Amino acid sequence: MSKLYITDTILRDAHQSQAATRMKTEDMIPACKLLDQIGYWSVECWGGATFDACMRFLNEDPWERLRTIKANMPNTKLQMLFRGQNILGYKHYADDVVEQFCKKSIENGIDVVRVFDALNDPRNLEAAIKFVKEYGGHCETAISYTVSPVHDLDYFVKLSCELEKMGADSICIKDMANLLLPYDAYNLVKKLKENVGVPIHLHTHNTAGTGDMTNLMAVQAGVDIVDCALSPLANGTSNPSTEAMVATLQGTERDTGLDLKKLSKAAEHFRSIADKLKADGILDPKVLNVDPNALLYQVPGGMLSNLISQLKQQNAEDKYYEVLAEVPRVRKDCGYPPLVTPTSQIVGTQAVLNVLMGRYKMISKETKAMLRGEYGKLPGEVNEEVRKLAIGDDKPITCRPADLIEAELPKYKEETKDFAKSDEDVLSYALFPQVAKKFFDIRDGRVEAPQEAKPAAGGVREIFVQDLS
Ligand code: CO
Repeated sequence: MSKLYITDTILRDAHQSQAATRMKTEDMIPACKLLDQIGYWSVECWGGATFDACMRFLNEDPWERLRTIKANMPNTKLQMLFRGQNILGYKHYADDVVEQFCKKSIENGIDVVRVFDALNDPRNLEAAIKFVKEYGGHCETAISYTVSPVHDLDYFVKLSCELEKMGADSICIKDMANLLLPYDAYNLVKKLKENVGVPIHLHTHNTAGTGDMTNLMAVQAGVDIVDCALSPLANGTSNPSTEAMVATLQGTERDTGLDLKKLSKAAEHFRSIADKLKADGILDPKVLNVDPNALLYQVPGGMLSNLISQLKQQNAEDKYYEVLAEVPRVRKDCGYPPLVTPTSQIVGTQAVLNVLMGRYKMISKETKAMLRGEYGKLPGEVNEEVRKLAIGDDKPITCRPADLIEAELPKYKEETKDFAKSDEDVLSYALFPQVAKKFFDIRDGRVEAPQEAKPAAGGVREIFVQDLS
């Protein structure tokens, strides 16, 4: 076995998981030269919730951020997180929008695109894989890890082999909810190394306190790359810390070769940023606590807080444990979707409705769409009685959902012709129409910028709980 490679998530998942995605570009730039000298496999810095948060809360152009990071980190591969046919949004887009987004991301500086689909439906990854490769990017295809009667070792191995055949340059085990326990990680990585030729990359969190152990067991089983975050924004709901991993492997056959002194220098900068985020009330130290509920209920940490806030709005906080018990039942009725954006929100909201109104007395639009197959193929058997309640005699979709969507770029170009200044602007608008329009108005001086973009009440919660990736 050779050295372990590390992806640092300090510029994306670390602050998305701990600080509602509020790190500003100006807080990143002073450390970029240091980060660039460390020798990471890649630095994750874009995609996920950063795109939305840039425009919505920080009054920043996400494309400008990417170009600035690239200019300051020319020697390190830049990585982004991409939600398959959803791109960075919450609905399916047509293939022409997916193509243009892949093209422009790579043109503006992205090297590695990590693509995932909430349902692990390969048809939702097809277009993204094709276009990332066509425009010269490294396509890392992720399996959304979850635990259920249909998600066994064979399921994930088969899926990974299929993704490799489709062109994946590496495979990521994406354990967004910190459900992958250390010994299961060992077995999964071992099986994948026996069956898959491309590198295996592990992404886990430390929500339940098992993340470092999971990484270490994966390292022993031969994982090629792991995700870590520099210590000031590591652990808790974030990823395990880079320095701990590097120190652990020093002098072993998996030694990362990274220099702890250089890491410490870079961490020094981000400690001051973390302090600032704490002082501003954006980083609540609570997120650093170990929360074993994530393991007990197999519900991602961010989803728990989402449920609490939904129940609070209904004055029904006393129903919390009833809802927690209802989540796995809804998930079973829907064929065991992994709980990650957007399925985590769909299942969670339906569970709340079932407890407050009676089971399936009220069915959300999104639950109906999911049961109709609009998000892709559900992993297991669906409860046909529930499906009938949801969609009546409608026939579920069995084709690739995006095949039903006409080309959309011409429409977005037409809608933005009076205010878009670039192809990138058109894409920002396609993904987040209102947010982007408001941002352009401020950027281009049509509207005065608001005071320092402090998160509004509920604002932090909104994005923090929405994006579980
Ligand atoms: Co994550």
